Amino acid sequence: MAEKKIILTGDRPTGRLHLGHYVGSLKRRVEMQNSGEYDQINILIADDQALTDNADNPGKIRDNIIQVVLDYLAVGIDPARTTICVQSALPALHALTFYYLNMVTTARLSRNPTVKAEIQMRGFEDEGLPAGFFTYPVSQAADITAFNATVVPVGEDQLPMIEQTREIVEKFNRIYGETLVMPKAVIPENAVQRRLPGVDGSAKMSKSLGNGIYLSDTAATVKKLVNGKMFTDPQHLRIEDPGHLEGNVVFTYLDAFSRPEHFAEFLPQYTCLDEMKEHYKRGGLGDGTCKKFLISVLNEMMDPIRTERARWEADLDTVYDILREGTARARAITDETLARVRHAMRIDYFEDRSILDEWKKLL
Ligand code: TRP
Repeated sequence: MAEKKIILTGDRPTGRLHLGHYVGSLKRRVEMQNSGEYDQINILIADDQALTDNADNPGKIRDNIIQVVLDYLAVGIDPARTTICVQSALPALHALTFYYLNMVTTARLSRNPTVKAEIQMRGFEDEGLPAGFFTYPVSQAADITAFNATVVPVGEDQLPMIEQTREIVEKFNRIYGETLVMPKAVIPENAVQRRLPGVDGSAKMSKSLGNGIYLSDTAATVKKLVNGKMFTDPQHLRIEDPGHLEGNVVFTYLDAFSRPEHFAEFLPQYTCLDEMKEHYKRGGLGDGTCKKFLISVLNEMMDPIRTERARWEADLDTVYDILREGTARARAITDETLARVRHAMRIDYFEDRSILDEWKKLL
Protein backbone atom coordinates (compact mmCIF):
# COMPACT_ATOMS: atom_id res chain seq x y z
CA MET A 1 0.00 0.00 0.00
CA ALA A 2 1.29 3.43 -0.91
CA GLU A 3 1.96 5.77 1.98
CA LYS A 4 -0.93 8.07 2.74
CA LYS A 5 -0.55 11.69 1.75
CA ILE A 6 -1.22 13.73 4.85
CA ILE A 7 -0.87 17.50 5.10
CA LEU A 8 -0.26 19.48 8.22
CA THR A 9 0.20 23.19 8.16
CA GLY A 10 -0.45 25.94 10.64
CA ASP A 11 -0.42 29.56 11.65
CA ARG A 12 0.21 31.48 14.83
CA PRO A 13 -2.96 33.38 15.66
CA THR A 14 -1.34 36.73 16.32
CA GLY A 15 -3.46 38.75 13.89
CA ARG A 16 -5.92 38.63 11.02
CA LEU A 17 -4.46 37.20 7.82
CA HIS A 18 -3.28 39.50 5.04
CA LEU A 19 -2.56 39.36 1.32
CA GLY A 20 0.94 38.03 2.04
CA HIS A 21 -0.62 35.00 3.72
CA TYR A 22 -3.01 34.69 0.81
CA VAL A 23 -0.42 34.50 -1.99
CA GLY A 24 2.13 32.74 0.20
CA SER A 25 0.01 29.96 1.62
CA LEU A 26 -3.78 30.22 1.77
CA LYS A 27 -4.33 30.05 -1.99
CA ARG A 28 -2.09 27.01 -2.22
CA ARG A 29 -3.90 25.29 0.65
CA VAL A 30 -7.24 25.73 -1.04
CA GLU A 31 -5.81 24.37 -4.31
CA MET A 32 -4.32 21.37 -2.51
CA GLN A 33 -7.63 20.79 -0.73
CA ASN A 34 -9.59 20.96 -3.97
CA SER A 35 -7.12 18.80 -5.92
CA GLY A 36 -8.40 15.67 -4.19
CA GLU A 37 -4.80 14.40 -4.16
CA TYR A 38 -4.46 14.23 -0.40
CA ASP A 39 -5.85 11.65 1.99
CA GLN A 40 -6.05 14.06 4.88
CA ILE A 41 -5.55 17.81 5.36
CA ASN A 42 -5.07 19.44 8.74
CA ILE A 43 -4.61 23.08 9.66
CA LEU A 44 -3.38 23.82 13.14
CA ILE A 45 -4.04 27.14 14.82
CA ALA A 46 -0.83 27.27 16.83
CA ASP A 47 -1.97 29.25 19.85
CA ASP A 48 0.53 27.59 22.20
CA GLN A 49 3.36 28.51 19.87
CA ALA A 50 2.00 32.07 19.68
CA LEU A 51 2.12 32.22 23.48
CA THR A 52 5.86 31.51 23.52
CA ASP A 53 6.42 35.18 22.75
CA ASN A 54 3.07 36.54 23.94
CA ALA A 55 2.82 35.07 27.42
CA ASP A 56 1.88 38.49 28.78
CA ASN A 57 -0.95 38.89 26.30
CA PRO A 58 -3.04 35.73 25.98
CA GLY A 59 -6.09 37.85 25.15
CA LYS A 60 -4.54 38.84 21.85
CA ILE A 61 -4.05 35.20 20.91
CA ARG A 62 -7.55 34.25 22.07
CA ASP A 63 -9.16 37.04 20.01
CA ASN A 64 -7.25 36.14 16.90
CA ILE A 65 -8.19 32.46 16.90
CA ILE A 66 -11.65 33.34 15.63
CA GLN A 67 -10.27 35.93 13.17
CA VAL A 68 -7.96 33.34 11.65
CA VAL A 69 -10.71 30.71 11.37
CA LEU A 70 -12.95 33.26 9.65
CA ASP A 71 -10.13 34.08 7.23
CA TYR A 72 -9.68 30.37 6.43
CA LEU A 73 -13.37 29.85 5.79
CA ALA A 74 -13.59 33.06 3.77
CA VAL A 75 -10.89 32.00 1.30
CA GLY A 76 -12.42 28.59 0.72
CA ILE A 77 -11.03 26.20 3.29
CA ASP A 78 -13.84 23.68 3.46
CA PRO A 79 -14.38 22.15 6.90
CA ALA A 80 -15.84 19.03 5.29
CA ARG A 81 -12.49 18.31 3.64
CA THR A 82 -9.99 20.07 5.91
CA THR A 83 -9.65 19.67 9.66
CA ILE A 84 -9.17 23.00 11.42
CA CYS A 85 -8.00 22.58 15.01
CA VAL A 86 -6.59 24.44 18.01
CA GLN A 87 -3.17 23.45 19.33
CA SER A 88 -3.73 24.10 23.05
CA ALA A 89 -6.62 21.63 23.10
CA LEU A 90 -4.37 18.79 21.92
CA PRO A 91 -2.50 17.57 25.02
CA ALA A 92 -0.59 14.91 23.08
CA LEU A 93 1.41 17.71 21.49
CA HIS A 94 2.70 18.82 24.90
CA ALA A 95 3.73 15.31 25.87
CA LEU A 96 5.47 14.68 22.55
CA THR A 97 7.34 17.97 22.88
CA PHE A 98 8.68 16.86 26.25
CA TYR A 99 10.08 13.62 24.85
CA TYR A 100 11.47 15.25 21.72
CA LEU A 101 13.33 17.83 23.79
CA ASN A 102 15.63 14.94 24.69
CA MET A 103 16.31 14.34 21.00
CA VAL A 104 17.96 17.75 20.46
CA THR A 105 20.81 19.66 21.99
CA THR A 106 20.72 23.29 23.04
CA ALA A 107 23.64 23.85 20.65
CA ARG A 108 21.54 22.58 17.75
CA LEU A 109 18.61 24.78 18.78
CA SER A 110 20.90 27.81 18.96
CA ARG A 111 21.83 27.36 15.31
CA ASN A 112 18.26 27.62 13.96
CA PRO A 113 18.52 30.69 11.68
CA THR A 114 14.82 31.60 11.83
CA VAL A 115 14.72 31.47 15.62
CA LYS A 116 17.98 33.44 15.75
CA ALA A 117 16.47 36.20 13.61
CA GLU A 118 13.27 36.20 15.65
CA ILE A 119 15.22 36.45 18.92
CA GLN A 120 16.98 39.50 17.60
CA MET A 121 13.79 41.07 16.25
CA ARG A 122 12.05 40.66 19.59
CA GLY A 123 14.95 42.01 21.62
CA PHE A 124 15.19 38.77 23.62
CA GLU A 125 18.99 39.07 23.64
CA ASP A 126 18.72 41.95 26.12
CA GLU A 127 15.44 41.11 27.79
CA GLY A 128 16.13 37.44 28.34
CA LEU A 129 15.05 34.58 26.13
CA PRO A 130 11.98 32.58 27.21
CA ALA A 131 12.91 28.89 27.20
CA GLY A 132 9.57 28.12 25.59
CA PHE A 133 10.35 30.39 22.67
CA PHE A 134 13.87 28.97 22.30
CA THR A 135 12.45 25.45 22.04
CA TYR A 136 9.36 26.09 19.90
CA PRO A 137 10.90 24.28 16.90
CA VAL A 138 10.69 21.12 18.99
CA SER A 139 7.03 21.73 19.70
CA GLN A 140 6.55 22.25 15.97
CA ALA A 141 8.17 18.85 15.40
CA ALA A 142 5.53 17.48 17.76
CA ASP A 143 2.77 19.17 15.71
CA ILE A 144 4.05 17.72 12.47
CA THR A 145 4.72 14.17 13.65
CA ALA A 146 1.57 13.93 15.78
CA PHE A 147 -0.48 14.22 12.58
CA ASN A 148 1.80 11.75 10.75
CA ALA A 149 2.26 14.48 8.15
CA THR A 150 4.08 13.59 4.96
CA VAL A 151 3.69 17.05 3.43
CA VAL A 152 4.11 20.35 5.26
CA PRO A 153 3.34 23.41 3.10
CA VAL A 154 5.12 26.39 4.65
CA GLY A 155 6.91 29.63 3.91
CA GLU A 156 10.62 29.55 3.25
CA ASP A 157 11.39 30.84 6.74
CA GLN A 158 9.97 27.59 8.13
CA LEU A 159 12.47 25.31 6.39
CA PRO A 160 14.73 25.17 9.47
CA MET A 161 11.75 23.85 11.49
CA ILE A 162 11.12 21.05 9.04
CA GLU A 163 14.83 20.25 8.95
CA GLN A 164 14.86 20.05 12.73
CA THR A 165 11.75 17.86 12.68
CA ARG A 166 13.39 15.49 10.21
CA GLU A 167 16.39 15.17 12.50
CA ILE A 168 14.16 14.39 15.46
CA VAL A 169 12.26 11.77 13.45
CA GLU A 170 15.50 10.21 12.31
CA LYS A 171 16.90 10.06 15.82
CA PHE A 172 13.70 8.87 17.45
CA ASN A 173 13.27 6.07 14.92
CA ARG A 174 16.92 5.07 15.31
CA ILE A 175 16.67 4.82 19.09
CA TYR A 176 13.15 3.43 19.54
CA GLY A 177 12.43 1.72 16.23
CA GLU A 178 10.45 2.87 13.19
CA THR A 179 7.65 4.93 14.75
CA LEU A 180 7.41 8.42 13.30
CA VAL A 181 6.60 9.46 9.73
CA MET A 182 9.26 11.47 7.90
CA PRO A 183 7.78 14.78 6.67
CA LYS A 184 8.73 16.87 3.67
CA ALA A 185 8.40 20.65 3.32
CA VAL A 186 6.67 22.21 0.34
CA ILE A 187 7.48 25.87 -0.22
CA PRO A 188 6.03 28.51 -2.58
CA GLU A 189 7.25 28.35 -6.15
CA ASN A 190 8.07 31.95 -6.96
CA ALA A 191 9.50 35.06 -5.36
CA VAL A 192 6.23 37.00 -5.15
CA GLN A 193 4.60 34.10 -3.34
CA ARG A 194 7.56 33.80 -1.02
CA ARG A 195 7.38 37.34 0.24
CA LEU A 196 4.84 39.95 -0.68
CA PRO A 197 6.16 43.29 0.60
CA GLY A 198 4.09 45.70 2.65
CA VAL A 199 2.45 48.53 0.72
CA ASP A 200 5.33 50.81 1.79
CA GLY A 201 7.87 48.41 0.28
CA SER A 202 9.19 47.09 3.60
CA ALA A 203 9.86 43.39 3.69
CA LYS A 204 7.20 42.51 6.19
CA MET A 205 3.56 43.41 6.54
CA SER A 206 2.82 44.28 10.10
CA LYS A 207 0.03 45.75 12.05
CA SER A 208 2.29 48.19 13.86
CA LEU A 209 3.66 49.54 10.57
CA GLY A 210 0.13 49.85 9.15
CA ASN A 211 1.48 48.60 5.82
CA GLY A 212 -0.58 45.46 5.36
CA ILE A 213 -3.72 44.80 3.35
CA TYR A 214 -5.86 42.37 5.32
CA LEU A 215 -8.27 39.92 3.72
CA SER A 216 -11.05 41.43 5.80
CA ASP A 217 -10.28 45.03 4.79
CA THR A 218 -13.08 46.92 3.05
CA ALA A 219 -12.82 48.17 -0.54
CA ALA A 220 -12.49 51.71 0.83
CA THR A 221 -9.53 50.70 3.02
CA VAL A 222 -7.81 48.99 0.09
CA LYS A 223 -8.24 52.14 -1.97
CA LYS A 224 -6.88 54.33 0.81
CA LEU A 225 -3.84 52.11 1.39
CA VAL A 226 -2.93 51.82 -2.28
CA ASN A 227 -3.47 55.51 -3.07
CA GLY A 228 -2.10 56.87 0.16
CA LYS A 229 0.72 54.53 1.08
CA MET A 230 1.80 52.35 -1.78
CA PHE A 231 5.33 52.90 -2.94
CA THR A 232 6.01 53.40 -6.69
CA ASP A 233 9.04 54.82 -8.48
CA PRO A 234 10.40 57.95 -6.78
CA GLN A 235 12.10 59.01 -10.03
CA HIS A 236 8.86 58.87 -11.98
CA LEU A 237 7.88 62.49 -11.37
CA ARG A 238 6.07 63.33 -14.57
CA ILE A 239 3.92 60.93 -16.54
CA GLU A 240 6.22 61.22 -19.58
CA ASP A 241 9.30 60.19 -17.55
CA PRO A 242 10.48 56.61 -17.97
CA GLY A 243 9.41 54.47 -15.01
CA HIS A 244 11.26 51.76 -13.10
CA LEU A 245 9.81 48.44 -12.00
CA GLU A 246 12.40 47.36 -9.45
CA GLY A 247 11.16 48.02 -5.96
CA ASN A 248 7.93 49.37 -7.41
CA VAL A 249 5.36 47.85 -5.11
CA VAL A 250 2.41 48.52 -7.42
CA PHE A 251 3.99 46.25 -10.01
CA THR A 252 5.03 43.67 -7.43
CA TYR A 253 1.38 43.43 -6.43
CA LEU A 254 0.26 43.32 -10.07
CA ASP A 255 2.73 40.45 -10.61
CA ALA A 256 1.07 38.64 -7.74
CA PHE A 257 -2.58 39.35 -8.46
CA SER A 258 -3.35 40.52 -12.00
CA ARG A 259 -4.59 38.18 -14.72
CA PRO A 260 -5.17 38.87 -18.43
CA GLU A 261 -8.96 38.97 -17.82
CA HIS A 262 -8.45 41.96 -15.56
CA PHE A 263 -7.05 43.93 -18.48
CA ALA A 264 -10.07 43.22 -20.66
CA GLU A 265 -12.29 44.33 -17.82
CA PHE A 266 -10.48 47.32 -16.31
CA LEU A 267 -7.64 48.45 -18.58
CA PRO A 268 -8.40 47.39 -22.15
CA GLN A 269 -5.59 49.45 -23.71
CA TYR A 270 -3.31 46.52 -22.75
CA THR A 271 -3.84 42.78 -23.19
CA CYS A 272 -1.44 41.74 -20.46
CA LEU A 273 0.88 42.92 -17.70
CA ASP A 274 3.98 42.80 -19.92
CA GLU A 275 2.47 45.36 -22.29
CA MET A 276 1.58 47.61 -19.39
CA LYS A 277 5.11 47.29 -17.97
CA GLU A 278 6.66 48.18 -21.32
CA HIS A 279 4.59 51.35 -21.50
CA TYR A 280 5.50 52.26 -17.93
CA LYS A 281 9.21 51.81 -18.62
CA ARG A 282 8.98 53.86 -21.83
CA GLY A 283 7.19 56.68 -20.09
CA GLY A 284 3.68 57.98 -20.58
CA LEU A 285 1.84 55.79 -18.11
CA GLY A 286 0.99 57.50 -14.84
CA ASP A 287 1.17 55.99 -11.37
CA GLY A 288 -2.44 57.03 -10.76
CA THR A 289 -3.66 54.83 -13.62
CA CYS A 290 -1.57 51.91 -12.36
CA LYS A 291 -2.90 52.28 -8.84
CA LYS A 292 -6.48 52.58 -10.00
CA PHE A 293 -6.06 49.34 -11.95
CA LEU A 294 -4.46 47.57 -8.98
CA ILE A 295 -7.32 48.67 -6.71
CA SER A 296 -9.84 47.15 -9.16
CA VAL A 297 -7.82 43.93 -9.38
CA LEU A 298 -7.53 43.58 -5.61
CA ASN A 299 -11.15 44.36 -4.92
CA GLU A 300 -12.34 41.94 -7.57
CA MET A 301 -10.31 39.21 -5.89
CA MET A 302 -11.30 40.22 -2.37
CA ASP A 303 -15.03 40.76 -2.94
CA PRO A 304 -16.02 37.08 -2.82
CA ILE A 305 -13.75 36.62 0.22
CA ARG A 306 -15.54 39.50 1.97
CA THR A 307 -18.93 38.04 1.14
CA GLU A 308 -17.96 34.61 2.47
CA ARG A 309 -16.51 36.13 5.63
CA ALA A 310 -19.66 38.14 6.27
CA ARG A 311 -21.74 35.00 5.83
CA TRP A 312 -19.69 33.10 8.46
CA GLU A 313 -19.53 36.10 10.80
CA ALA A 314 -23.31 36.04 10.86
CA ASP A 315 -23.20 32.38 11.93
CA LEU A 316 -20.49 32.25 14.57
CA ASP A 317 -22.18 29.36 16.39
CA THR A 318 -21.50 27.17 13.37
CA VAL A 319 -17.90 28.41 13.17
CA TYR A 320 -17.45 27.46 16.82
CA ASP A 321 -18.77 23.97 16.11
CA ILE A 322 -16.45 23.60 13.11
CA LEU A 323 -13.50 24.41 15.33
CA ARG A 324 -14.71 22.17 18.15
CA GLU A 325 -15.35 19.21 15.86
CA GLY A 326 -12.09 19.71 13.97
CA THR A 327 -10.21 19.79 17.24
CA ALA A 328 -11.96 16.60 18.41
CA ARG A 329 -10.88 14.79 15.22
CA ALA A 330 -7.35 16.10 15.65
CA ARG A 331 -7.37 14.96 19.25
CA ALA A 332 -8.05 11.36 18.21
CA ILE A 333 -5.23 11.45 15.65
CA THR A 334 -2.65 13.03 17.96
CA ASP A 335 -3.57 10.83 20.95
CA GLU A 336 -3.02 7.80 18.77
CA THR A 337 0.47 9.02 17.85
CA LEU A 338 1.33 9.68 21.49
CA ALA A 339 0.23 6.15 22.40
CA ARG A 340 2.43 4.78 19.61
CA VAL A 341 5.37 6.86 20.82
CA ARG A 342 4.97 5.77 24.43
CA HIS A 343 4.69 2.18 23.30
CA ALA A 344 7.87 2.50 21.22
CA MET A 345 9.65 3.97 24.26
CA ARG A 346 8.11 1.28 26.44
CA ILE A 347 6.80 3.79 28.90
CA ASP A 348 3.16 2.78 28.40
CA TYR A 349 3.14 1.10 31.81
CA PHE A 350 -0.58 0.97 32.33
CA GLU A 351 -1.73 -0.10 28.88
CA ASP A 352 -1.56 -3.71 30.02
CA ARG A 353 0.09 -5.65 32.84
CA SER A 354 2.95 -7.12 30.79
CA ILE A 355 5.47 -4.83 32.47
CA LEU A 356 4.60 -6.57 35.71
CA ASP A 357 6.18 -9.82 34.46
CA GLU A 358 9.34 -7.90 33.68
CA TRP A 359 9.38 -6.25 37.10
CA LYS A 360 8.76 -9.58 38.79
CA LYS A 361 11.79 -11.07 37.07
CA LEU A 362 13.96 -8.41 38.64
CA LEU A 363 13.25 -9.62 42.12
N1 TRP B 1 5.70 28.33 12.90
C1 TRP B 1 4.63 28.49 11.97
C2 TRP B 1 4.56 29.96 11.59
O1 TRP B 1 5.03 30.81 12.33
C3 TRP B 1 3.30 28.06 12.52
C4 TRP B 1 3.23 26.58 12.82
C5 TRP B 1 3.07 26.00 14.05
C6 TRP B 1 3.30 25.52 11.88
N2 TRP B 1 3.03 24.66 13.94
C7 TRP B 1 3.15 24.31 12.62
C8 TRP B 1 3.46 25.44 10.49
C9 TRP B 1 3.20 23.06 12.02
C10 TRP B 1 3.51 24.19 9.89
C11 TRP B 1 3.37 23.00 10.65
O2 TRP B 1 4.01 30.28 10.56
